[in-house]
Amino acid sequence: MNFKIKSFSEYESECNRASDNPEGFWSSIADHYSWQQKWDQVLDWNFTEPNVKWFLNGKLNITENCIDRHLAERADKTAILWESNFPDRDSEAITYQQLHYKVAKAANGLKSLGVKKGDRVCLYMPMIPELAIAVLACARIGAIHSVVFAGFSAQALADRINDATCNIVITSDGLYRGAKTVALKAIVDLALEQCTCVKSVLVKKCTSDPVAWEGGRDYWWDELMDQQSASCPAEQMDSEDPLFILYTSGSTGKPKGVVHTCGGYMVYAGYSFANVFQYDEEDVYWCTADIGWITGHTYIVYGPLLNGATTMMFEGVPTWPDGGRFWEIVEKHKVNQFYTAPTAIRALMTCGEEVVNRSNLSSLKVIGTVGEPINHEAWEWYKRVVGDNKVPIVDTWWQTETGGIMISGLGGHSPQKATFAGYPLPGIQPCLVTPEGKEITENGVEGLLCIKHPWPSIIRTTYGDHERCRVTYFSSFEGMYFTGDGARRDENGMYRIIGRVDDVINVSGHRFGTAEIENAINETDFIVESAVVGYPHDIKGQGIYAYVICDKPISDFDQARKDITAMVVQEIGPIAKPDKIQFVVGLPKTRSGKIMRRILRKVAEGEPDKLGDTSTLLDPAVVEDIVKGAH
Ligand code: WT7
Repeated sequence: MNFKIKSFSEYESECNRASDNPEGFWSSIADHYSWQQKWDQVLDWNFTEPNVKWFLNGKLNITENCIDRHLAERADKTAILWESNFPDRDSEAITYQQLHYKVAKAANGLKSLGVKKGDRVCLYMPMIPELAIAVLACARIGAIHSVVFAGFSAQALADRINDATCNIVITSDGLYRGAKTVALKAIVDLALEQCTCVKSVLVKKCTSDPVAWEGGRDYWWDELMDQQSASCPAEQMDSEDPLFILYTSGSTGKPKGVVHTCGGYMVYAGYSFANVFQYDEEDVYWCTADIGWITGHTYIVYGPLLNGATTMMFEGVPTWPDGGRFWEIVEKHKVNQFYTAPTAIRALMTCGEEVVNRSNLSSLKVIGTVGEPINHEAWEWYKRVVGDNKVPIVDTWWQTETGGIMISGLGGHSPQKATFAGYPLPGIQPCLVTPEGKEITENGVEGLLCIKHPWPSIIRTTYGDHERCRVTYFSSFEGMYFTGDGARRDENGMYRIIGRVDDVINVSGHRFGTAEIENAINETDFIVESAVVGYPHDIKGQGIYAYVICDKPISDFDQARKDITAMVVQEIGPIAKPDKIQFVVGLPKTRSGKIMRRILRKVAEGEPDKLGDTSTLLDPAVVEDIVKGAH
């Protein structure tokens, strides 16, 4: 697909082409893919219902574009390069031909378990090749995958399985993550006590630790695959058939299932990958995310494979056996594009430059970041120590809901400014608005970040609850998609993302609703009420600060903190553990009973002298107590 932009002036002319005629532009991009039947209308949309449809009546299968179409020219090229958790274990290279074979078998295996087009399949797996294969196998037969990050708890898994009424879960016996092993199958067994919809569990052997087994429900991956044919024609999908559901947190309620569809998602995933990372045919590309998040979906699996790239999957963690692991892998596989999160950069900075300098990083051509605002220090370190002051950085802003990168440099071709994501991709129309919904057109301003026109991979709905999608994203400002982020636009029109303006916090690049964590804390038997806010954290970006009210005086605070933490781990998972828990007798509330989070945030940030207007407080004494007891 030769839609790669090769200079900044070409970028500018593509932007003009896209804004003059969005439909003509996206149709010319979509033409690069292989369709079983061409669309008869490019776009139908309104942001009021919302209703967005791209490439109407187009028929395709994304796996034909990810795999089959490469067989003529790239059959023996490595598609997936897998690096184990353990440095002394062999890596694994899966060619496009082998991927074709494995995906067909897995697809037939799913069919043999009764999985049909439109069925939901839950994937709860380690970062092993079978995870990517399972994703593609679902897409091959038109089943909707719902990948749940394997760090979520049994309860969180059960909630997601039930919300999407999945009939089948694909998992492994266990997983390795640095020095730890996690008994995944046992977590699935526990979750399924609450899920009557699940009829089969497919288990890939990974750690070989013993597992409990339920005959008639549980199947070993390898045994099932052995019985399958290696030929599986791709199911014909409509452009607007769902491709996957991915759960993400918002400011209210339980996580919601963001739905992406086949045609538009494919077009944008491939286009954005090629342009942001400037991938060349012989390159090795590595994104360190987990496939359990949108970054892994779009920029480990779909985007790279659509471009016939070699995409690396890494099973382990950045800091094990030590902080040099990432850099050793870059040298070992001569990685050309490296894509990671600011939180990983900050953690690796603490390991010192010598650890980086042990490895030869001269293969790097583009280095990227994603997931949260990158601070100045981390940006400079990334540029100097990892990028040797010459490798371009792409700071990529996007969201689960956007499906692909929205604002970012195009590796090497765009002006670069520390901590700025930069300019939108062609066809993306960001704008800043005031809280009252008035668009701010001048430069050198801050505002709420919205998008004015649909792009092919925009969220279509939240699974099972379209109204929630409307209210969350399309009701704040008429005719616009609201991102939930605040941003600054400099004199030259470059964007810097400031962070969430809603009750969502970003902990190590993971998104949580404060309400979601509060609900978990409130399950603890002695907790009456709680309020959670984010505060600046050196490594995580934001830490989780919980204010809790107990139903009786606490004698053992350490034990109480342990109980609360255990409850959060049980309800959500270890990634949502509070960093600080403060016991309080009351929360600052307005006369109408609303918690004044602004005050709690200021205290958590260590700025109790900047509380601002507290005149609407019901009981100002509560605040004095909170300030006194703060960490
Ligand atoms: C939120 C979306 C999509 C990738 C992974 C996160 C924040 C994402 C950046 C960036 C500043 C960023 C935003 C956004 N975010 N990328 N480059 N600079 N902030 O996906 O879990 O859906 O979270 O992550 O706040 O709204 P997600």
